[in-house]
Amino acid sequence: MNSVIVGFGGALPKKCVKNTELPTNLNTSDEWISKRTGIKQRYLVENDETTSSLATIAANQALNFANMSPDDIELIIVGTTTGDYTFPATACLVQKNLKITNNSIAFDVSAACSGFLYALDIADSYIRSDKIKNALVIGADCFSKILDWNDRASCVLFGDGAGAVVIKGEENTNKGIKYCKIHSNGSFFDDLITTGGVATNRKAGVVTMNGKNVFKFAVEKFRDSLEQLLSDNNLTINDIDLIIPHQANIRIINALIDTMSINSDKVLITIDKHSNTSAATIPLAMNEIKDSLIGRGNVVLLSMGAGFTWGAALIEL
Ligand code: UT7
Repeated sequence: MNSVIVGFGGALPKKCVKNTELPTNLNTSDEWISKRTGIKQRYLVENDETTSSLATIAANQALNFANMSPDDIELIIVGTTTGDYTFPATACLVQKNLKITNNSIAFDVSAACSGFLYALDIADSYIRSDKIKNALVIGADCFSKILDWNDRASCVLFGDGAGAVVIKGEENTNKGIKYCKIHSNGSFFDDLITTGGVATNRKAGVVTMNGKNVFKFAVEKFRDSLEQLLSDNNLTINDIDLIIPHQANIRIINALIDTMSINSDKVLITIDKHSNTSAATIPLAMNEIKDSLIGRGNVVLLSMGAGFTWGAALIEL
């Protein structure tokens, strides 16, 4: 049984904020942000938009693309660290919003920017073990709600959004999720962390980051994960048709392109338009090119996020 991706969806908040439109007290510039990160703009939620509302729009689009109805879904996993509530899970809110009444499974996965890849791996395992046939896998985050809007070193980097895919169990096909390997190393837990939280009896706090450590780790793990994927699958870089990396900084992606001698046309970049939408970057990027993804060949997904968490997947669509 293979897990084949059959639907894509994406949602961005209504409000787009260009670098030049950021608050003036930040003492930043379009030039600094563009040159150091590749970001030109980000979408930020307003009061009527939440992680679950964006996730629901993306999920509906993915179901329409797959020509499936909500009640066909037996599992919803949302990769998010900015769910609407501490509990219940945002996946349960999506289930309610989609009016799914089949008592299917719904839960969230907390792996920060790697949330989508973690969710995809778990859903793939459910399908391969024949527990379910169809799943909705969503990456959704509203980081703007947990940013320190006085810290120019972090707040300019992130935006809000959601991306969703529908995956379906299919027999006798070469298509689908061919490989997925995810990792974590908790010893780096405080290099990218939110202050406050339950353990400190304080309200959820703001994002704090050791940017340089995160940068170095991401460069190293993108390369290691891709090398491991190639070796585990007896492939060379020339066998890969498209790479969709987590979008945190264009310089992290360019380091991968340089060290692995990758043709840059094979690497999908959306950071200029979306900024870093955490768990949503990869499915949002997939949704951007959904009409040309089917039949694209070997597609690699690469992620890295707080935890630290990271991983790689090889899929054929
Ligand atoms: O999804 C995973 C989450 N996060 C990441 O992957 C982020 C990984 N890290 C990065 O992308 C980069 O480390 C940053 C973009 C966060 C920082 O880039 P950098 O090239 O490492 O800059 P830096 O921290 O070395 O700072 C250089 C200068 C500093 O000024 P001084 O000390 O040289 O005078 C900073 O204060 O740039 C200054 N700076 C800014 N200037 C204008 C930092 N942020 C800004 C800003 N605008 N927004």
